[in-house]
Amino acid sequence: MRMSVIGCGYLGAVHAAAMASIGHDVVGIDVDERKVAALDAATAPFFEPQLSELLAEGRSSGRLRFSSRMADAAGAKVHFLAVGTPQTPGGHAADLRYVDAAIDGLLPHLRAGDVIAGKSTVPVGTAARLAARVGGSGATVVWNPEFLREGWAVHDTLAPDRLVVGAETDAAGARAVDVLREVYIAAVEAGTPFLVTDLATAELVKGAANAFLATKISFINAMAEIAEASGADVALLADALGHDSRIGRRYLGAGIGFGGGCLPKDIRAFAARAEELGRGEAVGFLHEVDAINLRRRERAVRLVVDALGGLVFGRRIAVLGAAFKPFSDDIRDSPALDVAVRLRGLGADVVVTDPAALDNAAAAHPQLGYARDRDDALREADAIVIVTEWDEYRRDLSPAHAGGLVRGRIVIDGRNCLDAAAWRAAGWQYHGMGRR
Ligand code: UGA
Repeated sequence: MRMSVIGCGYLGAVHAAAMASIGHDVVGIDVDERKVAALDAATAPFFEPQLSELLAEGRSSGRLRFSSRMADAAGAKVHFLAVGTPQTPGGHAADLRYVDAAIDGLLPHLRAGDVIAGKSTVPVGTAARLAARVGGSGATVVWNPEFLREGWAVHDTLAPDRLVVGAETDAAGARAVDVLREVYIAAVEAGTPFLVTDLATAELVKGAANAFLATKISFINAMAEIAEASGADVALLADALGHDSRIGRRYLGAGIGFGGGCLPKDIRAFAARAEELGRGEAVGFLHEVDAINLRRRERAVRLVVDALGGLVFGRRIAVLGAAFKPFSDDIRDSPALDVAVRLRGLGADVVVTDPAALDNAAAAHPQLGYARDRDDALREADAIVIVTEWDEYRRDLSPAHAGGLVRGRIVIDGRNCLDAAAWRAAGWQYHGMGRR
């Protein structure tokens, strides 16, 4: 099927490449000419496992191209809307300017019967507003939220847990749902649940899913606070809770909390939209979820300060990780970098290392020290802080090896990802988050 993907960031670039890989004829459109040139040359503009391979395959098959001209979207049967919806500067609501600009740009190129499938995370009510705006063109708006995780984006796009399509209940809506079913026919035939809803529900599914995941993480981080006050161990608590099949262990990883370009801004936008709808109190707990999350970063800093005897000024601290999570170079609202910046603010001599996100981190925070090589970061450190659980730190760094490099054997495990007993046995002072 001929399709366009408007907006080629983390979401759109992966969607375009994945759609080409299952046989569709795809043009990705983005206003950023440098990004377009990179993608057209099959170079992923950001770190995402398998994306480069998919781009190369799509470019050589002739089914995938990129353009900065909206006119190149003309003739596609379905136009996926994948532009960003960041937090408004100075506010909590979602900034819809890129969504609106994409629709304005697309409008002159639409034909009757075209389908616009929104994938961006938007406040409930946006799809209906856009549908009214494009109504005169004869195109139909559906909402098809995306649930991919960075680092797993290709997998999550090609083998999603479920597909959700929101549409109007008229004939045009039903036809548009059929078009989307055809787009995803391989996954549908493989048994992926295909849920058809109204527009508002489809928009809400996405916001609610992220709100739930954020709440689950903050719940266990709240338990970490209780564990710290009572001498319990939150990791063992999470294991025990997770065995209850109604609860499950995933997203019960206590530590320095969630970050990235999605969960933090999405819960704020969700709460802001609820306020607009006069139902702010229904999601008042999301403010608490946000507050618990931010407190964990402060807690990690406190652990470092206490472990170093109350003063970090001039002390050398190796910060292992900058990305908001492993398998990503994304530093948007990264708890890892926030911890590094706070320690630097206290006068520590901070050296950050990360296998993928170092250039992004250095561009955003030039005041921090950086080491490309993990061991260079560890050398002569008075303490080490693990803030992103990359395999290079979690699995491959032995306490004996690290002990041979550092000045002080103090480790703060901001992600509860190390074997505490092994590190202690090797003579390290180990501090986890919410752990004894
Ligand atoms: C999240 C959702 O998981 C996706 O389903 C959604 O599509 C995406 O947002 C989006 O809206 O685009 P992502 O931001 O890639 O995906 O990251 P996650 O893997 O969900 O992790 C988010 C943050 O939570 C990370 O900082 C991670 O370290 C943290 N986290 C995760 C924890 O602190 N504890 C956990 O147990 C799990």
